Amino acid sequence: MACIAPLSQTRAVLTSSEACERNKGPILEVLSRELAAHHAVLEVGSGTGQHAVHFARHLPHLTWQPSEVADQQPPLAERICLEGPPNLLAPVVLDVRSLPWAVRAAGAAFDAVFSANTLHIMAWEAVEDFFRGAGATLGAGGALCVYGPFRYRGRYTSDSNAEFDAWLQARDPRSGIRDFEALDALARAQRLTLSADHAMPANNQTLVWRA
Ligand SMILES: C[S@@+](CC[C@H](N)C(=O)[O-])C[C@H]1O[C@@H](n2cnc3c(N)ncnc32)[C@H](O)[C@@H]1O
Repeated sequence: MACIAPLSQTRAVLTSSEACERNKGPILEVLSRELAAHHAVLEVGSGTGQHAVHFARHLPHLTWQPSEVADQQPPLAERICLEGPPNLLAPVVLDVRSLPWAVRAAGAAFDAVFSANTLHIMAWEAVEDFFRGAGATLGAGGALCVYGPFRYRGRYTSDSNAEFDAWLQARDPRSGIRDFEALDALARAQRLTLSADHAMPANNQTLVWRA
């Protein structure tokens, strides 16, 4: 894939997230263990691509397929073009609401789906489609890894998450921090079983379900 602009002109304008810079190390630590025996990862809602670049660089045994909705493709494609290692593929368009997901693995089928900080941004109907799409993507032995803030038994894990949720819902009433139990029910309906719930810095979690 050809980059749109020369490196010297573009690096300064790459979209970046400070949160990604902070959380990419701790998430990598979890993924390096959880995906040690996996091969091909589909990332949903790759955002700036910082995670994709970092994880692909440090997990060279994985082929990493980033994805985003259509209007978020250009900055993602640019970072991947400029910074991506060989095992990081060019991003594809994927809106979780477009079932069945049209993305296909380049080689062997995807055996992992990863997504960070997306479920509290999407409307609930899209969250339901996310689990339907992930369930249809993963065969036996597949792993679904989801990073973000969650509530447990209707309670926030911190005051800052409660404040964040209020902010999210004031901005978009269809968004908001999701209840772990509701997500787990969606996962179980796709024959995905929770195998780990990793506590992460800043009151986040990495949830891992396995097919
Ligand atoms: C808060 S950002 C997180 C981006 C990145 N994963 C990160 O951790 O920085 C939420 C992302 O979800 C994506 N998103 C929202 N609705 C989506 C949908 N229906 N299908 C796929 N991605 C979606 C947005 O485009 C956005 O990039």
